[in-house]
Amino acid sequence: MNQSKAVPAGSATLVYENKSFELPVLAGTEGPKVVDIRKLYGEADLFTYDPGFTSTASCESDITFIDGDRGILLYRGYSIDELAEHSNFLEVCYLLLYGKLPNKQQMLGFDRAITRHTMVHEQLASFFHGFRRDAHPMAIMCGVVGALSAFYHDSTDINDPRQREIASHRLIAKIPTIAAMAYKYSTGQPFVYPLNNLGYTDNFLRMTFAVPAEEYRVNPVMSKALDTVFILHADHEQNASTSTVRLAGSSGANPFACIAAGIACLWGPAHGGANEAALKMLEEIGTVDRIPEFVRRAKDPNDNFRLMGFGHRVYKNYDPRAKAMQVQCHAVLDELGIHDEPLLKVAMELERIALQDEYFVQKKLYPNIDFYSGITLRALGFPTSMFTALFALARTVGWIAQWMEMIEDPQQKIGRPRQLYTGATPLDYVPLDRR
Ligand code: SDX
Repeated sequence: MNQSKAVPAGSATLVYENKSFELPVLAGTEGPKVVDIRKLYGEADLFTYDPGFTSTASCESDITFIDGDRGILLYRGYSIDELAEHSNFLEVCYLLLYGKLPNKQQMLGFDRAITRHTMVHEQLASFFHGFRRDAHPMAIMCGVVGALSAFYHDSTDINDPRQREIASHRLIAKIPTIAAMAYKYSTGQPFVYPLNNLGYTDNFLRMTFAVPAEEYRVNPVMSKALDTVFILHADHEQNASTSTVRLAGSSGANPFACIAAGIACLWGPAHGGANEAALKMLEEIGTVDRIPEFVRRAKDPNDNFRLMGFGHRVYKNYDPRAKAMQVQCHAVLDELGIHDEPLLKVAMELERIALQDEYFVQKKLYPNIDFYSGITLRALGFPTSMFTALFALARTVGWIAQWMEMIEDPQQKIGRPRQLYTGATPLDYVPLDRR
């Protein structure tokens, strides 16, 4: 983003203590207009207050648009449904990074650039051996991706567009290798090197599931399903982990450290950790007859249990990704000949019950992307502990596209929110012998 595209759209008047303040209103191309409060503190000595940023636009962005009421998700203007049906993850990476769908030559060049960066420095492997074998893959991903800074810190001048592009290619290319290594390390199996004659998702599946003792053949149906899962997770506007990456990047930190910060934030069960939590919840429910007990708990204000994979800060209608995920879930189970997956039965019955329940209807709680993804990923052969690492793998392109946009934004400055202070007013120090 080289210059603001916001369009003046009138003004809002704030009247306070018999003074009125005119606040400019700005319009984008889609979605709510914004009240520009940048001068409010200077003119009125007032902060705005918005814990959780539920009504705050933190930046101007061209990348992803979400309409929570209409259940719309666009990557650079293309709907998630069309991309999931017609595109592939590496093409979506190009779209998110460069803002348009590539022609054949551009796609070939991008594919070659990413492929050539899929190997990691051989010394990076030793970082894995510092972890216990039962370390959570997200702990490993946080540590190892952050450690990439040590390998590229001096060679990454974030003010140089070409070096930013190389860092982006490195991260998109190496994150599958690192995720596969995290899985291999947890199993005690040897790391498997990438092969340059395999596509992005095929390469990841082989690095994850191949063993040196025998040939590994990628199942094209599984690869297509996982590739679609990656597309669905690639970006999602200014969610918690993307905002973390932007905030970390606003200080000038190198992109590898910023992506490691995003991974840390994504790990939380309220965010990317929900796919792992949702599957564990379905396993805990176990059978359809136990659903009412869990629905009751989810509605009980005194019980902090929540239906994992349900609800969303923005989608107050169905998460369009959840529908596409359900389609992939059925495709994978059909391919595997699994027609009586008990967790799918529990998930579908739980969804049916919840969508008819007044509590969920009134609070506009629908299944989100994490509700069906766990069943799909488990059917693809991944352990539950790898689910959020797969989310991080896919979201890395979104994080890096948003980081690039933030760096190139002329309005960008270090992020530094203020607060409503409710602590002690000034006190005089009392010596110890008088307390
Ligand atoms: C992701 O932001 C993104 O875009 C995220 C994401 C992405 O792609 O980056 O889409 C990925 O993080 C999806 C969300 C995954 N998380 C879960 O599935 C965890 C379960 N969901 C909730 O924790 C919750 O719905 C959130 C965190 C997702 C959203 O919470 P909000 O918007 O802050 O809403 P809230 O917590 O204020 O809830 C509103 C009300 C509350 O009741 P009241 O206080 O009004 O009485 O709805 C209730 C909540 O108690 N509620 C739920 C619920 N989610 C919200 N009640 C039961 N079960 C739930 N899942």
